[in-house]
Amino acid sequence: MSEASVADRRNWQDGTLSFEESRRRIAESSQWLAGGVSSNFRLGMSPTPLVFERAEGAFLFDADGNRLIDYYLGMGPMILGHTPADVIAAAAAQLPKGLLYGGQSALETEAARLVCEMVPCAERMRFCSSGSEAVQAALRLTRAATGRRVVIKFAGHYHGWFDNILWSTAPPADASGPVAGSRGQAEETREIVVLPWNDLAALQARVAQNDVAGVIMESVMCNSGAILPLPGYLEGVREACTKAGTVLVFDEVVTGFRVAPGGAQARLGVTPDLATFAKAIANGFPVAAVAGRKDLMDLMTQGVVHGGTYNGQAVAMAATVATLKRLRDPATHAGMEIRGLRLMQGIQAAFDAAGIAAVVNGFPQIFHVAIGLTEKPRNWDDLLKMDRARYVKFATALLRHGVRALERGAWFLSTEHNDDVINATLEAVQRAISEI
Ligand SMILES: Cc1ncc(COP(=O)(O)O)c(C=O)c1O
Repeated sequence: MSEASVADRRNWQDGTLSFEESRRRIAESSQWLAGGVSSNFRLGMSPTPLVFERAEGAFLFDADGNRLIDYYLGMGPMILGHTPADVIAAAAAQLPKGLLYGGQSALETEAARLVCEMVPCAERMRFCSSGSEAVQAALRLTRAATGRRVVIKFAGHYHGWFDNILWSTAPPADASGPVAGSRGQAEETREIVVLPWNDLAALQARVAQNDVAGVIMESVMCNSGAILPLPGYLEGVREACTKAGTVLVFDEVVTGFRVAPGGAQARLGVTPDLATFAKAIANGFPVAAVAGRKDLMDLMTQGVVHGGTYNGQAVAMAATVATLKRLRDPATHAGMEIRGLRLMQGIQAAFDAAGIAAVVNGFPQIFHVAIGLTEKPRNWDDLLKMDRARYVKFATALLRHGVRALERGAWFLSTEHNDDVINATLEAVQRAISEI
């Protein structure tokens, strides 16, 4: 580790990092920014939302002068770390050539070609600027293609913050029918059906009614639990959708390019009709995509509207090309597989040694730690048994030991999390466990 990290070491070991300057700055900015943040998912963090001054590799540097090992990675995008030289150089080279053309560029064509070469379902694609938007485009395509209205989603799956899909992202155990995710949300529930995930019989029965336009799912349930599909589940869903003429959409906003160069669909071997991408596609630049069968995607030339002023922005496209070139190189993922697995196993072993029930689940590049479970969860209902309050205590203790991981249990890995970083993390994990 570098000199700087050695100097930091006492505070890590003591678990005495303080975040008072962040707290002060959040209070100050709350005069102008609602809640001091620009996303509700940054609100209410323990001990406070943090304010950062810079980031480098696997590290964040905050307003209190703390250097934190980062497993947020911007909520997933920063798969090549915070300062990948090739991505930055590509974006910098584009800057003096113009930012936004309101037209096409060779970079956009090149980025589209890379997406279509890497992703199994992608015969055609379109760029947009956020995962939420990509999901909206996919939903519209399912309805346009089928002439049907109903879309099936699954309890505990998150597909962005828009009214028509922010249903049952974290429903209570006794929920009957879709549960709104926000105050003020439009309450049209006629077009949405919420089912338990990993329950093939339930899906087959509903799809067989032949009125379902689309089924949308996180093909690995990354927003809660990093739960993998049970053997045969995705294959069964695929078959049921094909039989009923229902469009199958994998929301790969988290898994895309992250769990394999071709996303979860490549890793798990089941090809949807449409898929959505964002996050890792451009390593921090605001780029998203919807991709899929050409007959579906080409509906965008036949009356299905998809717009967006910033879609295909030239600097972001330069970053996309550079990012995807790195991610399609098998060596990029191979290193993360090895180090991520060691981290997962180390965290599981630390909880086991402390006699605290916990399950570490998922892929080396994105996994989840659930305190309070004794066996692998299969769906949202299983996750309701987690001890969330204890996990928040654990995440807060970790932060004081210099490791920033999401309070909801997810851990994102980058290529910059080298062996030294993993070792330091595991040391902090052990210390944090001893404090909860
Ligand atoms: C699976 C999934 N879909 C959609 C979204 C929405 O993406 P964005 O936040 O870019 O709008 C997210 C965001 O976390 C996500 O995890």
